Amino acid sequence: MKAIEIRNKYLNFFERHGHKVIKSASLIPENDPSVLFTTAGMHPLVPYLLGEKHPEGTRLTDYQKCLRTVDIDEVGDNRHLTFFEMLGNWSLGDYFREESIQMSYDFLTQELNIPAEKISVTCFKGDKDAPKDETSAECWRKAGIPDERIYFYGKDDNWWIAGEEGPCGPDTEMFYDTGKEPCSKDCQPSCDCGKYVEIWNNVFMEYFKNPDGTYSKLKQKNVDTGLGLERMTMLLQGKETPFDTELFEPVMKVLKEKSNNDNIDSRRIVAEHLRSSIMIINDGGRPSNVDRGYILRRLLRRMTRHLNKLGIDLKELENLIDVSIDTLKEMYPDVLDNKSKIKNVIIEEKNKFMKTLKNGEKEFEKALNNIKQKGEDIISAEVVFNLYETYGFPPEMTVELANEYNVKVNIEDFDKLFREHQEKSRMANDQKFKGGLAEQNEMTIKYHTATHLLHKALQIVLGEHAVQKGSNITSERLRFDFANPQKVTPEELQEVEKIVNEQIKRNLEVTCEEMTLEEAKKSGAMGLFENKYGEKVKVYTIGDFSKEICGGPHVKNTSELGTFKIKKEEASSAGVRRIKAVLL
Ligand code: SER
Repeated sequence: MKAIEIRNKYLNFFERHGHKVIKSASLIPENDPSVLFTTAGMHPLVPYLLGEKHPEGTRLTDYQKCLRTVDIDEVGDNRHLTFFEMLGNWSLGDYFREESIQMSYDFLTQELNIPAEKISVTCFKGDKDAPKDETSAECWRKAGIPDERIYFYGKDDNWWIAGEEGPCGPDTEMFYDTGKEPCSKDCQPSCDCGKYVEIWNNVFMEYFKNPDGTYSKLKQKNVDTGLGLERMTMLLQGKETPFDTELFEPVMKVLKEKSNNDNIDSRRIVAEHLRSSIMIINDGGRPSNVDRGYILRRLLRRMTRHLNKLGIDLKELENLIDVSIDTLKEMYPDVLDNKSKIKNVIIEEKNKFMKTLKNGEKEFEKALNNIKQKGEDIISAEVVFNLYETYGFPPEMTVELANEYNVKVNIEDFDKLFREHQEKSRMANDQKFKGGLAEQNEMTIKYHTATHLLHKALQIVLGEHAVQKGSNITSERLRFDFANPQKVTPEELQEVEKIVNEQIKRNLEVTCEEMTLEEAKKSGAMGLFENKYGEKVKVYTIGDFSKEICGGPHVKNTSELGTFKIKKEEASSAGVRRIKAVLL
């Protein structure tokens, strides 16, 4: 069965069971600068899991494009993917365990014709936060899974949450028995040997994990299920890896024909990274040096290096993009509309990187010979830093190359060096910024502080979605762009203005602290988290009203600002509004 048929069967089955089919959301989460990519089907549905009414009702089914980046370095083995599709069915305070489990069982055994004896399941074994999930086990027994194929595990295996806090709950997972010999007499679904492959996860989402680590009950009991399409396709086709299915096979074939060696890992890396890059660019992502742009850049650079390693002429890339798009177009027809844009972005990034790659690899080889002559097997932090700073060669690539040559890298000291360097350039930048401002007048500093007050006031009046999308300050006015789906009403504008002026009158002190990005996030500071991991940032606090990551500078006390007045509210781009305001 082809992937598209599995998807159609899935959506039809759940439609017959009263679900409305909803389209996949973008890989790039809207209005959420804190998350890089959509990583699970639940991501776009969080507000509805928390109790907001979904316009399509309480039973939904979807096919969600997902991208998980934690495993980038694992791609190349026989199973890891960054981009994948997750099929899901959702109960938003509608059915719960019994119906969910029965539907999953029926879909697997009757629609996909998986023999019941190939299915094992796992349930939550219970702990201080939630009881043992006997109900799920009972539902499985009723559906037709005997006790010997029902396993109980703890939170590590049978509890689902996205990140550290938020909606969560115990889950029950279904495993497919590939028929391989058990690796030992204790071999069970939790074992990684490959005999059992997880195929579906039903989460019974009735809890919310609070920032302090405690759990509360949600307003409603939800079901969130996720079935990985690529994996299911591979299993149903009796293939060993997703790269042997129609989703990758045509690209893998061209790569094999065109390469001058038989490096299967490199072929998989190229095929996989090309596919995920196409999907990211298709959803509007572009390479850059921060956040999601950097992930895309990493994928494209790694792909380029492995193409090179396979000895494939980089002119082939255009043809490979065509072949990869061919494998995607049936499932995601919009890739065809965006084909030329996708090509341009990939080819341009490849061209930019080629010189860096050539020089970097040459320098790496020199360094390698150097340490070998000395009888050492570790590349120093200074060498990694030099490769990065002088040749633009990415540290993760140095690590990957070192692995290939069986030498180690002193990455801890590199991290230290890197941070020191960033701190120095940040201080230099601040200096420049201050210099620039001194030439103007004090107004820009005042507008800067007023912008923080406005940002917070907008979130109070419109909601937390109203995050900053852009800002521009002159000595005459401030201009602030923020996420909001519709026009802000005159009443709302009045309220925002009133809140800002109240804060000015409260004579609030403005203070500044330096902390790591992680500490800033924990402290609840707002801001676009564009800085790199581990880097120090400045957090400006205005009394008890606002806390925001920012380079500054700011006034010492809000009383310096005078009176705040909004002059104009207008559209800036889709889903983004713009406010112009002055201080009188
Ligand atoms: N949220 C769960 C997962 O991602 C089920 O969809 O596995």
